[in-house]
Amino acid sequence: MKIIRTAVMSDLDAVASVEAECFPPAEAATKEEFAERLRYYGDYFWLMFEDDKLIAFVDGFVTDEKDLTDEMYEKASMHNENGAWQMIFGVNTLPAYRKQGYAGELIREAIRTAKNQGRKGLVLTCKDALVPYYTKFGFQNEGISGSVHGNVVWNQMRLVF
Ligand SMILES: CC(C)(COP(=O)(O)OP(=O)(O)OC[C@H]1O[C@@H](n2cnc3c(N)ncnc32)[C@H](O)[C@@H]1OP(=O)(O)O)[C@@H](O)C(=O)NCCC(=O)NCCS
Repeated sequence: MKIIRTAVMSDLDAVASVEAECFPPAEAATKEEFAERLRYYGDYFWLMFEDDKLIAFVDGFVTDEKDLTDEMYEKASMHNENGAWQMIFGVNTLPAYRKQGYAGELIREAIRTAKNQGRKGLVLTCKDALVPYYTKFGFQNEGISGSVHGNVVWNQMRLVF
């Protein structure tokens, strides 16, 4: 059975290990970074479990800053519960569970939450190949972002309610 829920500190090992399976080391957030993120904004992780196994998750904090910066990935303490924008820092599905709509379900859950909480919208960065994927959820591409995370070119995309 699949369930979606937000995160607590005891999810740390599972979250870090899914991340390590989904991203190359230069791009993957570390366990220490996730510990900080869970401390400040576990409520802004959307986890999908199949029975007891974590198979996919989405995370990102809330801020009044309009643009997603590299500093945000590292500084979980910048989370502002009353901020205008829901950032999305990570979208991950374990390889064996891809192309079944799981990331999509979690993105929709994040969008629903942000809307219910009265945010202005959501912001994420992604590689060129995923621009059409996020467009399907209503995100619009704003072009090359300032992010140099993992020495990759990132596009910034925004969904405005
Ligand atoms: C990107 C990523 C999160 C997608 O996860 P996912 O759970 O496979 O995502 P979805 O199933 O929602 O969608 C993936 C594709 O499968 C398709 N799909 C969804 N349900 C499907 C189904 N039942 N049957 C066949 N295809 C399906 C979607 O249409 C989508 O296709 P598209 O890319 O052509 O639009 C995953 O591949 C991943 O973790 N990649 C590595 C990390 C990464 O790059 N993350 C993004 C950072 S910006």
